[in-house]
Amino acid sequence: MTVTPETRFRTSQLEENDGPPVNPTDNRTMGEIVAARFSRRGFLMGSLAVSAIAATVSPLALVAADEARAAEGSAFKFDELEAGIDDKHHVAPGYDADVLLRWGDPLFADSPEFDPAKQSAEAQARQFGYNNDYVGYIPIDGSAEHGLLVVNHEYTNPHLMFPGIVKVVEKDGKKAAEVAPLSKEQVDVEMAAHGGTIVEIRKEAGKWQVVREGKLNRRITSNTEMALSGPVAGHDRVKTNADPSGAKVIGTVNNCAGGVTPWGTYVMAEENIHGYFSGELPEGHQEAANYKRLGIPEGAYEWGAHYDRFNLAKEPNEPNRFGWIVEVDVNDPNSVPRKRTAMGRFKHEGAESIVAKDGRVVFYLGDDERFDYVYKFVTAGKFNPNDRAANMDLLDDGTLHVAKFAEDGSVEWMPIVFGEGPLTAENGFASQADVLIETRRAADLLGATKMDRPEDIQPNAGNGKVYVMLTNNTKRKADQVDAANPRAENAFGHIIEIIEDGGDFAAARGKWEVLLKCGDPSVADVGATFSTATTAHGWFGMPDNCAVDSAGRLWVATDGQGPKATGRTDGLWAVDTEGAARATSKLFFRVPIGAEMCGPLFAPDDQTAFVAVQHPGDGGEDWEGFGRPSYYEDPSTRWPDFKPDMPVRPSVVAITKQGGGKIAV
Ligand code: FEO
Ligand code: CA
Ligand code: CA
Repeated sequence: MTVTPETRFRTSQLEENDGPPVNPTDNRTMGEIVAARFSRRGFLMGSLAVSAIAATVSPLALVAADEARAAEGSAFKFDELEAGIDDKHHVAPGYDADVLLRWGDPLFADSPEFDPAKQSAEAQARQFGYNNDYVGYIPIDGSAEHGLLVVNHEYTNPHLMFPGIVKVVEKDGKKAAEVAPLSKEQVDVEMAAHGGTIVEIRKEAGKWQVVREGKLNRRITSNTEMALSGPVAGHDRVKTNADPSGAKVIGTVNNCAGGVTPWGTYVMAEENIHGYFSGELPEGHQEAANYKRLGIPEGAYEWGAHYDRFNLAKEPNEPNRFGWIVEVDVNDPNSVPRKRTAMGRFKHEGAESIVAKDGRVVFYLGDDERFDYVYKFVTAGKFNPNDRAANMDLLDDGTLHVAKFAEDGSVEWMPIVFGEGPLTAENGFASQADVLIETRRAADLLGATKMDRPEDIQPNAGNGKVYVMLTNNTKRKADQVDAANPRAENAFGHIIEIIEDGGDFAAARGKWEVLLKCGDPSVADVGATFSTATTAHGWFGMPDNCAVDSAGRLWVATDGQGPKATGRTDGLWAVDTEGAARATSKLFFRVPIGAEMCGPLFAPDDQTAFVAVQHPGDGGEDWEGFGRPSYYEDPSTRWPDFKPDMPVRPSVVAITKQGGGKIAV
């Protein structure tokens, strides 16, 4: 519960940092009913015709398209990159991978240049933030070459940010690295390095440039004023000493993945919020069980020592004001971001959306924790493509659902609505606000399926499918295996594909199957299911973020590979989903050692892939093999070596085809 030299490393989003699993229920791992299932594949092939995706596409046409694609082989035309490990990023031959933005880059005409030895909160708030994760693109005047790039800054790694902060100490006869306590000034830099960036970019002569004069450029940080909106706004459980209204929150944290809505706003998902809170709740406080279900307080950050709102002893209700989806109107740089409470409170990974057949808007939401759930939110109102303003509060009213994946290949989306089923006063809920504040407990009571860490979830408008990244869960025991989470000690994760009934993304039910079990297919015990056409470079583990390009093709980014886990760095893989090539994967881009791969995002014309390289150089022992430790004992050893193109600053990279053209076709 206290900050330690170890927690300050915040080395990865894997095991240690996520904390122990916190789902106390015993519902629905279906452990006892693992009986051999009939081939889901054959079953789905048959049902595909019924799901009929879009009313305008005939089943026969779909089958024909599948067959044509099978005859062609992979949908991806590029020469595969070799997997490997080193301190640089690499892209497939014939492509350029240009750094567009790095941590500390100036975003405004008056921003100071990045100087690692003179960091300040004021400078950081005018510069690109740390640990870029979600990347979105909002066209200006419909352009694929001029738009707003929106980027989340998920968390901070002080050991990689602040010169001189790492000390080497003797521990049990061995050398070990420790991170010194942060000063208040460093905490302030951290807070300013969180949040998001909105910045105008333009492609000139085939290369993307940042437009520092952009009138809509904006930094959102952990100090930006926000509104709570929707059913929870103003509720007693979100009132604090600083905000008796229960409707005004300062800041956002741990913005992992996110989305861009059909009406052109930017949504940021608040994920691992537990680490920011420290201190003890008052004895017998009513929120104790609620916080325990989210692992609060974990106290990996020392913000609570300087700011009451992160100290449970001072502001016991504050954690109820985090863990939401935040919506930002990018067209007004002074707009107040709104935490949309109707979309539930948990460790939100992302919020990718799609317009359903009837005009309602569907958001797919993962709760990234071992044994937590997959959700979708369906707006009550309909999207109006002709009136942007009419859509601005769509996210305050709708129905949140949680998924139950059944053995027979069906998935049921169960509504999370106060007064329905177990969500009543008997179980301690007095209103929909209570249900939303404790979304996880509500989903527990409904008997949702406990998943292997749901990360990004991407609907595919092209074929009516939905891809669910499940990154890993080594804590799943053999008797907890179920059809949707089929491997015990799942170290490498898997991808589930959902086809909503009738091709309607707002449907209450759908079909599902496992698209891919990840890991090295040459090791039988791993049980990976990449196609035999997948090369030794083409397989991957730990799917995390993903994207679908305009051709409807799936691209998967990974988090957690490395020398020990898979013998390769994280990267971006192109994954066939259709026809005979299904489950074939090819490596397109890989990151420097220590980094995870975030983004990814395709420009609307598919001529650029934006990828986000998060925490390059993290993990000391891994990095040393290349003659450079990932952290440095003092500025005189770290920063004289510092070059702008060194892969030690998180960065957004723009990948384009040499000579122009669409990516990988
Ligand atoms: Fe921030 Fe679940 O990755
Ligand atoms: Ca993620
Ligand atoms: Ca992750």
